[in-house]
Amino acid sequence: MTGNKGIYEENRIEPMSQFLSDKDFELFSSLVYNESGIHFTNTNRSILESRLKDRLKKLGLENCDTYYKQLKNDEDELKNLLDSVTTNLTRFFRNTGHFQAFQNYVLPKLLSYKRKIGENQFKLWSAGCATGEEPYSVAIAMKEHLPSDVEIQILGSDLSLSSLMVAKEGYYPVARCKDIPEAYLKKYFSEKREGYQIKPEIRELIKFDYHNLKFGSEVQSMDIIFCRNVIIYFDQQAQKNAILKFWNSLKNYSFLFIGHSESLFGMNTQFKFIKTEWSTLYSKNLTNEEL
Ligand SMILES: C[S@@+](CC[C@H](N)C(=O)[O-])C[C@H]1O[C@@H](n2cnc3c(N)ncnc32)[C@H](O)[C@@H]1O
Repeated sequence: MTGNKGIYEENRIEPMSQFLSDKDFELFSSLVYNESGIHFTNTNRSILESRLKDRLKKLGLENCDTYYKQLKNDEDELKNLLDSVTTNLTRFFRNTGHFQAFQNYVLPKLLSYKRKIGENQFKLWSAGCATGEEPYSVAIAMKEHLPSDVEIQILGSDLSLSSLMVAKEGYYPVARCKDIPEAYLKKYFSEKREGYQIKPEIRELIKFDYHNLKFGSEVQSMDIIFCRNVIIYFDQQAQKNAILKFWNSLKNYSFLFIGHSESLFGMNTQFKFIKTEWSTLYSKNLTNEEL
């Protein structure tokens, strides 16, 4: 694993005296922001300080000036630093309401639209997929709730390389599988060591890839985007940019799920807010009659 923190140990911040001077905090937080959109302020300063301290220890460096200079010319180490400051907390079928709206509202609507226009492919992007639980959950939901002749293509992306490695392997210790319904666990996972591994029939629906939401814009023609609990770490400008990117990555007649504590309120976007009986979500270019 390339990560610098145990990815199953989320945000365990040791109490510490301030590690960075205000000037150095400004330098490092600006660097992280400019490279990822992740926004550190005085409120969450201790997270950045603790992760930086870990990186320096790992590299045997004592001085953050030397590290800062190294980061300017070392792309791999920059990726390691960004990986280390991310929060990768996730779980299978996170937010039941979203999955109910997905199965009972989004999939039937898209299916009847696609049948009408003679299309057979469903493309979904799980942006900020962390260790893969989200794309695997949507893949299972799609397998269960779409006819077998439909072609499912899912992209799971993240900037955390250590998380992507876990996602690609698709193996999870027992404790991480507690939110998977028993029937799905039996049907779509194989028991392995002290945990479960996703079966190839689900694994092969998903392509996992490195993608930094601050820069990449190459994702196209999506029907559905899940980007949940990601932009919450961005400031408003970076959030707006990411949402605009999602608009451009989506087809006409498409859907966007963001985290339940995230909102597009005040962003002046063209996305339409939808309130279903299970959860809220957003759509692109659906008329009022189609909602
Ligand atoms: C809290 S996890 C959310 C995982 C999943 N979407 C969920 O809701 O359970 C946030 C993920 O966003 C990723 N992330 C943060 N900034 C990113 C960026 N600029 N580009 C791509 N991924 C990013 C992190 O690496 C992390 O894995």
